[in-house]
Amino acid sequence: MCGIVAYIGNKKCKNILVNGLKRLEYRGYDSAGIAILCNDSTSEGGNCLHRVKVIKKAGKIGALEDELENIDIDGVCGIGHTRWATHGEPTEVNAHPHTDCSGNIAVVHNGIIENYSELREMLTKKGHKFVSQTDTEVLPHLLEEYYDGDLLTSMQKLVKKIKGSGAVVAISGYNHEEIIGARIASPLVVGVSRDGNFLASDMPAVLEHTRNFTVLNDYETVRLTKDKVEIFDPEGKLVNREPFKINWSISSAEKSGYEDFMLKEIFEQPYGVKETMRGRITDGRLNFSELNLSTQQIKNLKKIQIIACGTSYHTALIGKQIIEKWAKIPVEVDFSSEYRYRGPLVESDYLLIAITQSGETIDTLAAIREAKTKGAKIVAITNVVGSTMARESSSVIYTHAGPEIGVCATKTFTAQIIVMYLMGLYLGKIKGYIDDVKLKELIEELNFIPNKIQNILNRANDIKHIANKTCGHTCFLFLGRIYGFPIALEGALKLKEISYIHAEGYPAGEMKHGPIALTDKRTVVVGIIPEDFVYEKILSNIQEVKARKATVVAIATEGDNKIKEYADYVFYVPKTMDELYGILAVVPLQLYAYYIAKNHNRNVDQPRNLAKSVTVE
Ligand code: G6P
Repeated sequence: MCGIVAYIGNKKCKNILVNGLKRLEYRGYDSAGIAILCNDSTSEGGNCLHRVKVIKKAGKIGALEDELENIDIDGVCGIGHTRWATHGEPTEVNAHPHTDCSGNIAVVHNGIIENYSELREMLTKKGHKFVSQTDTEVLPHLLEEYYDGDLLTSMQKLVKKIKGSGAVVAISGYNHEEIIGARIASPLVVGVSRDGNFLASDMPAVLEHTRNFTVLNDYETVRLTKDKVEIFDPEGKLVNREPFKINWSISSAEKSGYEDFMLKEIFEQPYGVKETMRGRITDGRLNFSELNLSTQQIKNLKKIQIIACGTSYHTALIGKQIIEKWAKIPVEVDFSSEYRYRGPLVESDYLLIAITQSGETIDTLAAIREAKTKGAKIVAITNVVGSTMARESSSVIYTHAGPEIGVCATKTFTAQIIVMYLMGLYLGKIKGYIDDVKLKELIEELNFIPNKIQNILNRANDIKHIANKTCGHTCFLFLGRIYGFPIALEGALKLKEISYIHAEGYPAGEMKHGPIALTDKRTVVVGIIPEDFVYEKILSNIQEVKARKATVVAIATEGDNKIKEYADYVFYVPKTMDELYGILAVVPLQLYAYYIAKNHNRNVDQPRNLAKSVTVE
């Protein structure tokens, strides 16, 4: 939610900031703005004061870019922001950066300041003038209030004063050679390069300039100059932290000829799946030691709890089915936002698995913190190296899907499913429920999955055809049973997220307890119908909706001819084992949602009201 980028170095910063914001636009697109320290200066009290130039626009980055086209700014130090509105409407005046009364301090912020009204009142009494409705505006005024010649110490005082979450970055005309940042429970990474240093909400923002990063911990502050990065702990003591290198390529954060990031990322799935298996399956053997649990600890596990939000929650449901089937360990699944408040029972022989592609979802972070206080061991599954989740968990299992820019999750989902399959196998093997023969058979089939996904993608036009034929409908029901059920939920979520059409995912057997009342000729029923042990059952459910004149789209298994008698449109996925069916069946549903949304001229990469990382509650 909201994207921040900042740069100080040898190069002019205007374009660096705008390009960085474009790469962060998935985090918010209500307004955008930059503040740059200009080269011209005046003298104030014997000190040199540089002009802080702020330019901001309501709407997407494109509007800001147009505005900036004819403005020449030479500055080499600046901050930028793309906003996902929380406090105050998405207008120009509410856009960041915000400034203090003098206009000499400019601030960008991502997060929510919970005590902003009391701070605003206190500052107003002291004579500060506010112009926006945002919570953020208290920050430059607080810095102004605390300023005694060093912006860093003012920032350190500010960090102690505010309640809530945030990443805050500031520049001031008093010192044109530094940028000051703070992390208060929202992501902020430091990019290090020979031509200067960066702060950003996310690594892809500055990937074209550097692959060397350092992360900040909560309540740490940072001072960037063009050739130095100094990080300070909450007590203000200098911290020694070496940068790490990430192996994401620049092209992975670009569209590379695809119309949208979402489409590109759907097509990258064979690669993401293969990369996620790489090193974990070698020569037919399973290597999953990163789980960091001893054989005895695994044998003693009484229960696994999995928490997640959005698409990651659907991975959690798949994980439950797989782990219970292969390792026979009872698994509970919760939405993180529910788990954190429901007072969950946690014991020392429970394992908590947190799934989050971004590693920054605030509800999931809060949930693991809650579980930690109760003594649970936490395993994180995330796609982002160095993310908060990765750092706060006892062990981390990375998906290697590459950066995902489209707001709705696609390639991170299939990569997460692979991790659940591998974990299920590993636990099952140690618990003694999977013997070598079964393990070999499953591993062999897993190795075929990337090619099978590719086979589906090669037939994307068939899905496009079905989407074109059905896109005029106003109600979509996605039905599945057992392994098809989480996929039905995901298919519905994808469609509603990006097309804004009402869609629901349902266990097919539950249809008769409600959703069937919705079914008429305006309804499309998408059935996920593998030839498994509940095949006949789901066919009966499909017959019921067909009798009520719904249009039926079936995702079926290659070679199933019978299904044609029941469905108006059929898309076949390659044969695989029952348990692995989900990872194949979701791919046509991602494409289906994509093509329907395109038919409605939706911006699939930036659906309204949504954000890629939800860092506010
Ligand atoms: C947002 C995104 C979804 C994502 C969800 C959970 O709502 O738009 O695509 O599934 O957050 O994100 P996480 O990073 O925790 O997986």
